Amino acid sequence: MNIDTISGLDGKVALVTGAAGDIGRATVALLRAHGMRIVAEDIHPAVAELAEPGCVVTLTGDVGDEQTARAAVDRALGEFGQLDVLVNNAGRTLNKRALDTSVDEWDAILATNARGNFLHSREALRVMVKQRSGTIVSVASVVSSVGMPDLAAYAASKGAIAQLTKVLAVEYGEHGIRVNAVAPGVVETNILAGIVEDSRATLASYGHLHPLGRVAKPAEIADVIAWLASPRASFVTGALIMADGGYTAL
Ligand SMILES: NC(=O)c1ccc[n+]([C@@H]2O[C@H](COP(=O)([O-])OP(=O)(O)OC[C@H]3O[C@@H](n4cnc5c(N)ncnc54)[C@H](O)[C@@H]3O)[C@@H](O)[C@H]2O)c1
Repeated sequence: MNIDTISGLDGKVALVTGAAGDIGRATVALLRAHGMRIVAEDIHPAVAELAEPGCVVTLTGDVGDEQTARAAVDRALGEFGQLDVLVNNAGRTLNKRALDTSVDEWDAILATNARGNFLHSREALRVMVKQRSGTIVSVASVVSSVGMPDLAAYAASKGAIAQLTKVLAVEYGEHGIRVNAVAPGVVETNILAGIVEDSRATLASYGHLHPLGRVAKPAEIADVIAWLASPRASFVTGALIMADGGYTAL
């Protein structure tokens, strides 16, 4: 039995947001390895590097823009005729305490992380409800459920994702649609680009916060996303799956 037979993802179609980032690229690579066709979306033009004729189409746009969400879902239907999986992965952070956070900064983080998730979920659900099948996997965070200083807007946006996940699971379960989120601990990625000199090295230095004594590699989060997206998680919905090296067990 090969990997595709085991996962049940072979031939299915996914829309992955934030596809040009580290967790996004790892997710696209893994879903492709499982035989999926993919619409890869990102605000960064580097997403075009992921294009593969007949297998991966790319789209550049702001995830918090309603037109981007509509265009991405239309692209899945136009190119591949269906949409089975949405991975809401696009996100950015703001490392500031509440008193240092401006209204514009708050709105910008919520627009990307929370509104982007809502818009893409809503547009995907329009198709999935008609199909009477589909699954949504969102990338939340440990700060969806625990407090951490210097992350007021980011944590609020990730809390919104956790709650939206539960509501959508409850609202659309009867249509055969599963909605889940993965909550990573610290992952060695480029998310702090522009905030610190070396994002991956800075994030790697937080290993001691996790009982496993290290941070995650992007591929370890992609594994959880792929499992949640697959029929192997067929009775899992409305869940916030911690992939945090034990961070929230402390
Ligand atoms: N790295 C961590 O420690 C960590 C921990 C928990 C959760 N996460 C979450 O994982 C997800 C992926 O982040 P990553 O760590 O791979 O970082 P990353 O910066 O490598 O990837 C994020 C991607 O999202 C894209 N993006 C940002 N704003 C966008 C917008 N407005 N529209 C469209 N695309 C946009 C970026 O261009 C980038 O390609 C994010 O949702 C992040 O919050 C990361």
